[in-house]
Amino acid sequence: MRKQLAVPVFAAISAALCLAGGDDLKFDGHALVEPDCDAMSAWFECRDIDTAPPDVFLGYQYMHLTSQTLGPDGNTTYPDTGEPYVTTVISCSSCHFTGGHVPFGSPVYQSPSKYQPDPVTGLGPYFRPLGYYRDLEDSVIDCFRNCMNAERAPTKDDPVMVALVAYIQWVADGIIDPAVRDDWLLLPPEAGPRLPAIAGVSTMRADPLRGGTLYAASCSDCHSEDAPGAGEYRIGEERPRIPAVWGAIDGYSHGAAFYRTPVLAAYVQKHMPYGDPETLSDQDALDIAAFINAPDKPRPVGMADQMYCHDDPDGIPSALRKPADWLVGCEYPGERAFFTGLGIDYDDMVRNGPWDQLAAWRAAEVERLLAGCPADLDGDGGVTLADLALLLAAWGQSGAGHPADVNEDGNIDLSDLAILLSQFGTTCP
Ligand code: HEC
Ligand code: HEC
Repeated sequence: MRKQLAVPVFAAISAALCLAGGDDLKFDGHALVEPDCDAMSAWFECRDIDTAPPDVFLGYQYMHLTSQTLGPDGNTTYPDTGEPYVTTVISCSSCHFTGGHVPFGSPVYQSPSKYQPDPVTGLGPYFRPLGYYRDLEDSVIDCFRNCMNAERAPTKDDPVMVALVAYIQWVADGIIDPAVRDDWLLLPPEAGPRLPAIAGVSTMRADPLRGGTLYAASCSDCHSEDAPGAGEYRIGEERPRIPAVWGAIDGYSHGAAFYRTPVLAAYVQKHMPYGDPETLSDQDALDIAAFINAPDKPRPVGMADQMYCHDDPDGIPSALRKPADWLVGCEYPGERAFFTGLGIDYDDMVRNGPWDQLAAWRAAEVERLLAGCPADLDGDGGVTLADLALLLAAWGQSGAGHPADVNEDGNIDLSDLAILLSQFGTTCP
């Protein structure tokens, strides 16, 4: 039987869940989070996947039943090597609920418009983590690499890619007004084309220990207590495929957006516990997310090490524009030392917040770089030992107009040295 997208089974499933309890959920685990088609009807028409052309239906199966098709137990492998496309037992629709139909559930109806190349430059949107301009296929490739932990991703003309893109386009065709279909920014706010966010989260602090207790109470019935972390996840267990939230093989990688604790928290609050969403407080959701993303949970690295290691097109090191809550990729020189100098545990701050101080420091540094590079005293394009020597040589002199008066307060003193040291090793655009 082909699965219908439009059937309002949500209530029935919720009822079944309450009766069944965590370990004995007698339903197909992948049709779970359903869109509320009535609520969306003003701007989106849910259609039966049965009415879709065969390539779209194939793409739907790849997205929705990923493990059974592209996964380790799947029936579709790379033609050249016979290897599976993905090695993890998770589906695209584990995160892109119902294959991308759920508002704030990482939908894909906006994607064809969002990745449309700019008519002037011919380039799609800039993807800062990896420093390139991407199209829709690229965004699928990035998810293969970082969400599905695949070593390899299908090329843009691979039949699996072609079917996935046909499916995503079909989802987007459900947008009723063609003008909105062409310009996703016209979607109503309730369409949630972006991930949800917790207001004011940057000043909050997450407590992963408390999160562990809450996880045991609210999540572990379904997602497992001991971790799905062992990696073998429910293959042959005759249990529904409730996705792993961590695990060396099946967890999402450090390069996935969910590895940002505030992002995961907002998503969880919006959709989980399954069947009882929007019941966690901001703090509870944040604590649970910090527990799930804590360093003791095994998780693949994905492409995280390559992220934010380049300069943006305007010459600013992208590490300075990395979200303050993402412990990945390259670090801006001097940044860690600066916060350590203040007695702050840098890794803990990035993981658990508050994030506002780091964000403000980076923003100020960007501004400084765009304004020039005051600690680059000799103007050779970097803050080096030579600059330090110049500053020390001018030490104690009256600063007015002297390049060594880095902060331009009229004195050449400790405060100038502190700035120079915090920027030591920096390249200036
Ligand atoms: C672990 C969760 C997860 C899994 C699994 C996953 N994705 Fe994603 N995907 C995301 C998140 C989160 C985003 C970013 C959404 C955002 O920034 O609003 C994303 C972004 C995307 C986008 C771009 C959407 C947009 O409009 O910007 C596409 C397309 C996509 N994923 C396709 C896929 C496909 C195809 C698969 C399976 C092969 C997959 N994803 C698996 C979480 C996941
Ligand atoms: C009643 C079972 C159930 C409970 C309780 C539950 N979940 Fe889920 N969760 C699911 C299912 C099922 C999915 C996949 C939904 C789908 O495929 O449509 C899911 C998906 C997710 C995802 C996205 C996929 C991934 O692996 O990253 C996250 C994150 C998540 N749950 C976290 C939580 C957290 C945190 C809690 C506790 C606050 C929780 N869940 C409670 C059943 C549950």
